[in-house]
Amino acid sequence: MGVNLSGRSFLKLLDFSTEEIEYLLTLSRNFKDLKRTGTPHRYLEGKNIVLLFQKTSTRTRCAFEVGAMDLGMGVTYLDPGSSQMGKKESIEDTARVLGRMYDGIEFRGFAQEDVEELAAKSGVPVWNGLTDLWHPTQMLADILTVQENFNYDIKGKTLVFMGDAKNNVARSLMVVCAKLGMNFVACGPEACMPASDVVEACEPIAAENGCTITLTQDVEAACAGAHVIYTDVWVSMGEPDEVWAERIEQLEPYRVTTQVMELADPSAIFLHCLPSFHDTNTTIGADIAAKFGVTEMEAEDEVFESRRSKVFDEAENRMHTIKAVMYATLK
Ligand code: CP
Ligand code: NVA
Repeated sequence: MGVNLSGRSFLKLLDFSTEEIEYLLTLSRNFKDLKRTGTPHRYLEGKNIVLLFQKTSTRTRCAFEVGAMDLGMGVTYLDPGSSQMGKKESIEDTARVLGRMYDGIEFRGFAQEDVEELAAKSGVPVWNGLTDLWHPTQMLADILTVQENFNYDIKGKTLVFMGDAKNNVARSLMVVCAKLGMNFVACGPEACMPASDVVEACEPIAAENGCTITLTQDVEAACAGAHVIYTDVWVSMGEPDEVWAERIEQLEPYRVTTQVMELADPSAIFLHCLPSFHDTNTTIGADIAAKFGVTEMEAEDEVFESRRSKVFDEAENRMHTIKAVMYATLK
């Protein structure tokens, strides 16, 4: 039977089968071809979506806006301070209002329960644009980028996440790797290992798909022969500034350096969801350099700018993959 995601919400990848994720990746590849060849694809003309952000964004917002406009849809953006939600109106009431006006709702915020409640109460598809627990749309872009670099043959390849492996991106990578038959390695200090709930959920899925999940503190063992070295910021949105000092101390041994990349397979690529602190050209980067003397955080600038770094292909792929999610769920 063919895959049909019409009317579904996209809240976390644990809700989707391997076949459904593979379908979304194939659809993304098709949309990328249409965009590249300048072929119009206004398949959702007449529909409208709303983007609800409690946290800041560049890629996710722009990917939803451009993706929606390419599909012929109208888009409303509500920034972190400009709706009534939370302060004067509950999530439940907001969901019931927006569901009367829009065909789909994107939400980026703090609590996973909030995006789940929007989905439960709005009556329209809701897409999770990042919560403290999950970042599912990011995963499709990441895996499309891996596919493009490994000739669409990713089963049995190994992805290593270096650093704060308890965060939303690392948790989501564990799920998508398990679902698609890629070995997943979380490499970081004990204090930053993924929570047991996600490991327990992923282990049987990985076993079913013939791949492994490894948690380790050992950089050499983790990265030897790996195909993808992935990292993310050491402090995620919503965490207090006070955690920086401790995080820098814990995570410096897990910075992605040129030496780390040399441990990996000769074909290995470097990925990062972005934004990244690979230099001091940001206010936070400059502030951390002044306070702690650290000028490159989760990745060395040399790695970020290297031939192996595919981070801007990955960023572009946010748009093609998010377009696929909107199309599949709204058509
Ligand atoms: N990777 C990602 O989600 O980027 P933004 O925070 O810019 O949306
Ligand atoms: N872990 C990061 C991802 C940003 C795209 C955060 O939540 O801030």
